[in-house]
Amino acid sequence: MDPRHADLGRKRQGAVYLAGAGGHRPKVPVDQTALERAAQAAMSAEAWAYVAGGAGREATIEANRAAFARHRIVPRVLHDVETRDLSIELFGRRLPSPLLLCPIGVLKLVHEDADLAVARAAAAMAVPYIFSNQASVPMETCAAAMGDAPRWFQLYWSRSNELVASFVRRAEACGCSAIVLTLDTTMLGWRPRDLDLGSLPFLRGEGIAQYTSDPVFRTQLDPTVEPGVAAVRQFMATYSRPSLHWDDLKFLRQHTKLPVLLKGVLHPADARQAVELGVDGLIVSNHGGRQIDGEIAALDALPAVAEAVNGKIPVLFDSGIRGGADVFKALALGATAVCLGRPYVHGLAVAGQHGVEEVIANVLAELDLTLGLAGCTTVPSVSRSALHGSTECS
Ligand SMILES: Cc1cc2nc3c(=O)[nH]c(=O)nc-3n(C[C@H](O)[C@H](O)[C@H](O)COP(=O)(O)O)c2cc1C
Repeated sequence: MDPRHADLGRKRQGAVYLAGAGGHRPKVPVDQTALERAAQAAMSAEAWAYVAGGAGREATIEANRAAFARHRIVPRVLHDVETRDLSIELFGRRLPSPLLLCPIGVLKLVHEDADLAVARAAAAMAVPYIFSNQASVPMETCAAAMGDAPRWFQLYWSRSNELVASFVRRAEACGCSAIVLTLDTTMLGWRPRDLDLGSLPFLRGEGIAQYTSDPVFRTQLDPTVEPGVAAVRQFMATYSRPSLHWDDLKFLRQHTKLPVLLKGVLHPADARQAVELGVDGLIVSNHGGRQIDGEIAALDALPAVAEAVNGKIPVLFDSGIRGGADVFKALALGATAVCLGRPYVHGLAVAGQHGVEEVIANVLAELDLTLGLAGCTTVPSVSRSALHGSTECS
């Protein structure tokens, strides 16, 4: 076990309370609502709309949280939980915890150190970071700041297969150990908060660093216009491909040996098809409620997807994780690991790299305590029977 992750919960409590006794309160709030409020205060109206906003009337954002609230943990007692191990095995590699960081685009809106601060925090906390295709900092720069720490690359499939191949090649070259293909954003969702501000960051040249640093993308630019304008125009023309189809996955398979995960799978039939086609993993996600208003809560989709996959490939989860108890519930409902999204962005807004580290430490501490208090000592032993309403519990 990574010593950084041993007895994490009590160590973290100890450190916070000891500092408190010395008159110091955490600069990065532990309470999620307070953290959100502090983050909002640190951001521009446009940045906050982009990060907090969802599709339509934001019923899916609400549903994500409501689904977590509906599930209740039923602890077991007298199980000797003195020693707890948060580690998991994923794609042949042991990870110190079941937590990864979601790909989140345009982080420059949130903090000037953007993806680089997150990369450093992820490496320091031994939590894999999934680089966004819409990052503000090129993947090579983030990778160089991470040493050997694990990172993955998230791909949006553009209209240019040459560009797709180039992104994947670069991801391999800078040490990414998996490719996450996001499938729920072949078009941007209808986002009233951004629409009412008339604000799309990409049009201002923000969040396109993976493109402007790409040798293939550069050859696609119109040389007759100013380079910044040409880049935005070419990005807008190429960035998404709604015609994407199951058959296209072959192209990706031919261009990488890395494990390929599909992000945004919610229907068990799609999960079964992915397994049949040799996909290496899934991420059950509704993109944090940003794509379809009234979409199923990701947590409600998880059990059926996990059942359809039947342990053949890992099933990761995101959308609505706000703390360690949420991680526990997702694990109990069939997730192999989970990805943290907006909360680390809030930490970034409040205190840069340090803020991201604090948020990760708090989530892991709460997970460690929840695990033990529920009567479990390892992540794989967390099962449906830990939740109210399962046949074993009722
Ligand atoms: C501001 C913002 C930007 C995002 N950018 C990306 C992205 O570039 N690629 C991607 O696959 N998902 C992106 N997502 C979705 C996240 O990866 C993840 O699915 C989502 O944040 C989970 O919901 P939660 O943060 O509410 O838990 C973004 C989400 C937010 C909030």
